[in-house]
Amino acid sequence: MSESATRNPLLAGLAAAQVAQPCTLVIFGGGGDLSRRKLLPAMYNQALDGALPANFAVLGVALEELDDASYRDFARDGVERFSRQPLDPRHWPDFERLLHYQQGSFDDPDTYVRLKQRLEEIEPAFGIPGNRIFYLAIPPALIETCVQNLNAAGLVRPVDGEQPFSRIIVEKPIGHDLDSARQVNNVLGANFDESQIYRIDHYLGKETVQNILVMRFGNSIFEPLWNAKHIDHVQITVAEEEGVGTRAGYYDRAGALRDMVQNHILQLLTLIAMEPPWAMQADVIRDHRQDVLNCLRPITPASIETSVVRAQYGPGFHHGEDVPGYRREAGVAADSTTETYVALKVFIDNWRWAGVPIYIRTGKRMPKRVSEIAVHFKSIPPILFNADVDHPLEPNVLALSIQPNEGLSLRIATKLPGPKVRIYPVKMDFRYGSTFGDQSPEAYERLMLDVMAGDATLFMRRDTVETSWVFIEDILDAWDSSGARWLPEYSAGSWGPLESDRLIEIDNHKWRLL
Ligand code: BG6
Repeated sequence: MSESATRNPLLAGLAAAQVAQPCTLVIFGGGGDLSRRKLLPAMYNQALDGALPANFAVLGVALEELDDASYRDFARDGVERFSRQPLDPRHWPDFERLLHYQQGSFDDPDTYVRLKQRLEEIEPAFGIPGNRIFYLAIPPALIETCVQNLNAAGLVRPVDGEQPFSRIIVEKPIGHDLDSARQVNNVLGANFDESQIYRIDHYLGKETVQNILVMRFGNSIFEPLWNAKHIDHVQITVAEEEGVGTRAGYYDRAGALRDMVQNHILQLLTLIAMEPPWAMQADVIRDHRQDVLNCLRPITPASIETSVVRAQYGPGFHHGEDVPGYRREAGVAADSTTETYVALKVFIDNWRWAGVPIYIRTGKRMPKRVSEIAVHFKSIPPILFNADVDHPLEPNVLALSIQPNEGLSLRIATKLPGPKVRIYPVKMDFRYGSTFGDQSPEAYERLMLDVMAGDATLFMRRDTVETSWVFIEDILDAWDSSGARWLPEYSAGSWGPLESDRLIEIDNHKWRLL
């Protein structure tokens, strides 16, 4: 056991103590929506929880004409509207003094010269030893120019134990396809070492997603059953109530497959399917997750019809009101063939998962916001309690509720009280809210602290992003080769098109009612 684990038993099993180091967080796009809704509120919650390093500052960089004072107002507005914990007026002045702003264009080298000067003023004032985190909350087209300008201005320090660190956080989407993802990665790689690059997938920061590993490898009862011998199939659902909203410009070029499956859902899949890692170390965990992606069976033009369904929402109802179909949304082309829903049947071709179908569905304008991973175990043999072929027993299901009612439940058969043997499926339920009371931290809170601590476990490595694209691009190519086609429509507020029911019913399964 390491010395630190001897001193503090709570540290046992951790690769490194999670200590956020003093630093300045530079947010490119600091005046944008992500900053207002997520990043600044995340910082504020960490400050309230006492989790921020004692020496810390934020510097927003963006085109908007703001100064420090108006940036603090902008942050306050974001915190008031979107923070997990309400704004505490007694604490706010301490927090807002950490916030700074610099106006500038991302393609103007002078912005970076001024940025460097500003950092050199802020750092001594806040006792920060020169550690810098650059957060790129900017459109993908600007990543290249931003990264190159950072380097040209001498703002990227090489990896060297003696030096203050430079780290960079990159938001999705990383590319639009494999080639463009490689290009982004090449630019990042030419200017930063891979160990300095943190590619965010905010799903990995969700409390319930992290719990997947604890549930699988912190208990003795699941792992022996976690394989093709005992698991019949898995269903992953990520349903959203909202439509495309104001993001048509991006979404109409992306679609559900690129927007949700290439990143978030494949990451969920890797956590459910990975082999037990032998240490809680970033690259051990990431290697094991990567192995799952390496084993995904490619979807080809020959298998696409039976493996993938795409669809687009038509008009329908949302909270009792008429809502337009996707093609009538602001900014969407009237003849758009972008999918807002996709369902897939995938296989992981390794010993553990051979032959186990994994059904995935995700879409916008569904009846409710719900994300769940349901592991369906095999039926018991058709004897004893399961002998009646007309009334088979419902198999066990372990359902991990990712959001919004975070928790997990296990469906088991029990005897109904009474003289006869009648069997009824009941649910053993665990809910974070009722067990732990507190609201879980937001994904961005956890992820930002991890970057400050230099822990890349919950971030995507270059190979992960690119292997995911290889899988997705096969599907995109198969769609292309089948030509522009009629896209099934589902009513807004419904669970998707009939075709997606067929995708699963052909295997004698049904989508779970959520
Ligand atoms: C984003 C997608 O990455 O994730 C959005 O671009 C989607 O389209 C969002 O709405 C969903 O995130 P969450 O945390 O609300 O499930």
